[in-house]
Amino acid sequence: MKLSLLASYSSLATIASANPAGCDFSLVGFGKDNPIGPTTGGKGGPTVTVDTVDALKSAVADDTPRIVYAKGTFNLTGRLSIGSNKSLIGAGKGANILQSGITVKDKTNVIIRNLAIRKILDNDGITIQNTTRVWVDHNEFSSDLSNGPDFYDGQCDIVRASDWITVSWNYFHDHWKSSLVGNSDALRDVDTGHLHITYHHNYWRNEGTRGPAGRFGHQHIFNNLYEDFLYQAIHSRSDNQVLVEGNVFRGKTREALSTYGLVIPEDSPNTSPDGDFEIDGFANLGAKNDWGSARINITQVGNFTRVPYKYKLTPLKKVEDVVKAGAGLNRIW
Ligand SMILES: *[C@@H]1O[C@H](CO)[C@@H](O)[C@H](O)[C@H]1NC(C)=O
Ligand SMILES: *[C@@H]1O[C@H](CO)[C@@H](O)[C@H](O)[C@H]1NC(C)=O
Ligand SMILES: *[C@@H]1O[C@H](CO)[C@@H](O)[C@H](O)[C@H]1NC(C)=O
Ligand SMILES: *[C@@H]1O[C@H](CO)[C@@H](O)[C@H](O)[C@H]1NC(C)=O
Ligand SMILES: *[C@@H]1O[C@H](CO)[C@@H](O)[C@H](O)[C@H]1NC(C)=O
Repeated sequence: MKLSLLASYSSLATIASANPAGCDFSLVGFGKDNPIGPTTGGKGGPTVTVDTVDALKSAVADDTPRIVYAKGTFNLTGRLSIGSNKSLIGAGKGANILQSGITVKDKTNVIIRNLAIRKILDNDGITIQNTTRVWVDHNEFSSDLSNGPDFYDGQCDIVRASDWITVSWNYFHDHWKSSLVGNSDALRDVDTGHLHITYHHNYWRNEGTRGPAGRFGHQHIFNNLYEDFLYQAIHSRSDNQVLVEGNVFRGKTREALSTYGLVIPEDSPNTSPDGDFEIDGFANLGAKNDWGSARINITQVGNFTRVPYKYKLTPLKKVEDVVKAGAGLNRIW
């Protein structure tokens, strides 16, 4: 009797610490509710566990539904290409992806969870290109700021008409360029009408720019925590639209939200003198945000004021605690 009581107390404690009160860790947003169907990843396929680079590469390569648990550290020597209908999930406390990052290109229906993606040298941590239905959830992305803004590339970049994506509960920290949506102002014809992305309950800490920076698309950005975001946290340009609500900004965060096309803070190391010269984007404010001491600079208010899905906002006062407790690795069990 006593033993079983103890057992149930400890399992309650585990659940409480892994899943803070009020958190719903299920898929929410454009990755779920969209015209082409929810992201299901490898659902319906077999589950396999891999612990070598070669086994990981081949387990995710084809388009057959498969749930792949990655166990341990994967020091990649080239991009890891993920095929359609895959769930790639770090086992246990999370798997480490080092050296080379992940590419999802010309695919559909991919889930990526519980991976620690650190100091990727060959391009972005994750590049999602010409791909629909993706859920990037409960990962940790980090490198350092000491090598300058262009030593590493993006943490999670979403480009070339990709669509219907949710980026949730990730911990992005110690990095210059976080999440770029639409990678050139010359790609208007390719990108316009796409790039619908939901960013929610992510924790950004000690980052330079792009949390996210969007072009030509629509991003719903809610209940994220930004701490010491050094330049623009949310940046909307080239006719992009953002709906920004229930976010919290803390610490040295300078500019929480900007729609200005030409954004070169005088002391920003992140742009060439002739770079980023493009037209403004749009910003729409939904539920109240806590801007902290950060500025906002909205030059154009747009018409992306509602989303075609149900979602539950975390009360603003709870966002900081809930995001810190819920984002990142080792939370989803
Ligand atoms: C990963 O591999 C590279 C060589 O490709 C090596 O320089 C580096 O030390 C390795 N990192 C770890 C953590 O094993
Ligand atoms: C897997 O993905 C492809 C697209 O690459 C799709 O056409 C196919 O129907 C999917 N297969 C299953 C079994 O869901
Ligand atoms: C995008 O991916 C689809 C396959 O899903 C492919 O047919 C198409 O050619 C790709 N488009 C571009 C511009 O690469
Ligand atoms: C908005 O940002 C632009 C570019 O940095 C700047 O020229 C403009 O003065 C800013 N407006 C406000 C109201 O801060
Ligand atoms: C929303 O605003 C954009 C930019 O002004 C415009 O192109 C688009 O047609 C508008 N959409 C609707 C549904 O009014």
